[in-house]
Amino acid sequence: MTRGLFISFEGIDGAGKSTHIDALAAALRARGRSVVLTREPGGTPLAEKLRALALNDPMDPLTEALLMFAARRDHLLQVIEPALARGDAVLCDRFTDATFAYQGAGRGFDLQVLAGLERWVQTVPAVDAPGIRQPDLTVWFDLAPAVAAQRLAGARVPDKFESQPQAFFARVAAGYGARAAADPGRFLRVDADQPREAVWRDVEAGLKQRGLLA
Ligand code: TYD
Repeated sequence: MTRGLFISFEGIDGAGKSTHIDALAAALRARGRSVVLTREPGGTPLAEKLRALALNDPMDPLTEALLMFAARRDHLLQVIEPALARGDAVLCDRFTDATFAYQGAGRGFDLQVLAGLERWVQTVPAVDAPGIRQPDLTVWFDLAPAVAAQRLAGARVPDKFESQPQAFFARVAAGYGARAAADPGRFLRVDADQPREAVWRDVEAGLKQRGLLA
């Protein structure tokens, strides 16, 4: 049976990850792979309710982090783990790196506490201790906050995060950089400040290089 494959996609708001997630899903399906497309926070009925709260209601950073991880736990157990057990490819629009980048670096919340929550939430029966469930690959769309802000301007009604000032996104971007530096083997950094086709070529090449796309 095919081994499950877990890929997450990250980047600041406006980095343009969505079209590439869809393109990768199509590319994998064209090669006969079963693909589960999902997102965080969200991906289950309960986690989608938590998403609506986390993205719209003001709250302190710990409450926000707990909601993200609560949504993640439900999503992992209900959707991600069963899909990986079936041998599917799970393409997840954001995962825990977003919590480190947004709640940690962006909001300034304690990274040690986040690391503890990460350990609790991502401990699953299918992964032998001391390991925890992590994506096999994280595609990081890296884009300067000023460019992202231009792309977002007037796009739609912004949610709580999208309406943050550019300085917030500069911290979030640095947060992603720190996560990537701490686990370079898991990250595929893609320069998102290029035409869409060039970004896609980089995504495709990165996956091929890792043997994840034929
Ligand atoms: P996003 O992924 O950009 O979805 P959409 O394209 O529908 O807007 O929105 C999710 C938002 O949630 C984004 O601003 C980042 C934020 N977020 C966190 O702050 N922490 C997290 O742990 C996750 C998963 C997302």
